[in-house]
Amino acid sequence: SILIVDFGSQVTQLIARRVREAGVYCEIHPFQSAAAAFERMRPKGVILSGGPASVLDANAPAAPPEIFAAGLPILGICYGQQTTAKQLGGTVEGGHAAEFGRAFVEIREPSALYEGIWNVGERHQVWMSHGDRVTRLPDGFGVRAVSENAPFAVATDETRRIYTTMFHPEVSHTPDGGRLLARFVVDICGCRPDWTMAAYRDEAIARIREQVGEGRVICGLSGGVDSSVAAVLIHEAIGDRLTCVFVDHGLMRQDEARQVVDLFRGHYNIPLVHVDASDTFLAALEGVTDPETKRKTIGRLFIDVFEAEARKIAADGKGPPEFLAQGTLYPDVIESVSFMGGPSVTIKSHHNVGGLPERMNLKLVEPLRELFKDEVRALGRELGLPEAFVGRHPFPGPGLAIRCPGAISREKLDILRKADAIYLDEIRKAGLYDAIWQAFAVLLPVQSVGVMGDGRTYDFVLALRAVTSVDGMTADFYPFDMTFLSRTATRIINEVKGVNRVVYDVTSKPPGTIEWE
Ligand code: XMP
Repeated sequence: SILIVDFGSQVTQLIARRVREAGVYCEIHPFQSAAAAFERMRPKGVILSGGPASVLDANAPAAPPEIFAAGLPILGICYGQQTTAKQLGGTVEGGHAAEFGRAFVEIREPSALYEGIWNVGERHQVWMSHGDRVTRLPDGFGVRAVSENAPFAVATDETRRIYTTMFHPEVSHTPDGGRLLARFVVDICGCRPDWTMAAYRDEAIARIREQVGEGRVICGLSGGVDSSVAAVLIHEAIGDRLTCVFVDHGLMRQDEARQVVDLFRGHYNIPLVHVDASDTFLAALEGVTDPETKRKTIGRLFIDVFEAEARKIAADGKGPPEFLAQGTLYPDVIESVSFMGGPSVTIKSHHNVGGLPERMNLKLVEPLRELFKDEVRALGRELGLPEAFVGRHPFPGPGLAIRCPGAISREKLDILRKADAIYLDEIRKAGLYDAIWQAFAVLLPVQSVGVMGDGRTYDFVLALRAVTSVDGMTADFYPFDMTFLSRTATRIINEVKGVNRVVYDVTSKPPGTIEWE
């Protein structure tokens, strides 16, 4: 395995993804607890991430010295380069504020790091981080590649197998970065590239069996990819000792509830309780206009309904469930690096049924804790989940309630559902679904004047949103061509009664968020 020591870079998780894409298991640990992780994991190599701090600060984060003493291959990226240089006796001087930028490195000397990938004399595009600069290298190190602004773009000690880069190989703007990281973990560290989803699935099943024993598990299904994959995996492990509960809050998209029920009951034959609680939810949401109140109301009701069902299951004579399954993903569990208030804020779904485990005395089963979203999708495919299900765009727990700004009503939800279905249908037909992170319609609480046939109309305005994103933390609006937009708008206005105007949202995140509420 590979240990990634996190110094708080926004892109540390991408290092882990690239390493796993190379077929090698890795874990991210913040620098504060990296010594313990190093001791426990006994990794074959260590990667030191980038980070926002300056090695010149009094309490600058550092890598545990035992990592340097162990004689293992080390790769230091950006801040990782600076701390390596400083900790091994080099000199670092202040530079400008940390920022990313496209740059070209010129290869001056060979290095094991890019053997077979980059050759001396070539120039290659990388994504550079300009922060503090190493000005004198530790003994044994030499400069292997330079760029205009980075005289030490790549500096290595080939004998000790310590490699440092000022650029970020993990980001997609360093086109050969994935190959460089694969080269490091497989060829240099000697990790076998045998981390596959098939292997992971078998391991995960064995672990679930070990944890659950003869116990029973309940699982809240949201219709999303994560809880579905978790449920199918657990069902493979323990069969019908798993019961799924699908709380239908009446805020799902068109046909969604039926698809979930068909998939679980029909395709997999997994015991599923389908609770149609739409009346309860819609009644509680009547007249609620504040987005946070909507979210809290939905979250509270969800727990109530789920808990009531869990009690019924517990009373069915087959013994009370001791476990609650959740589709928690790796980005939710990575310990945050505290000096900067955590690397990134995670939006927790209310389907991670907060508070319930303690109230009902349930233990958690979280079989996806080590996986990233795309790995969960790969595992879903491995488990035979239909592609249309696995590749779905994320959908927020509060559902369409937060896509109807202002007070919601059945009538508005119906309009929104129809328009949203047409929009997604056009996106699929245009072959764009997979290129988009999330696409949806928002029904605005605004009416506008229109003319249709010979008559005047006074109907709602519908906003279309589509974004690209890696993790939902930042996003760009999707640049549809005008023909697509006009075709979609025409269809919606012609086919959905109640909408007479369509607009396209061209806001990125930040400053906007993906959802409107
Ligand atoms: P924003 O709107 O904050 O959303 O840019 C980022 C991602 O999170 C989803 N989202 C939610 N998911 N419960 C959820 O389960 C919520 O309350 C919630 N709010 C936003 C959003 O769809 C996007 O993928």
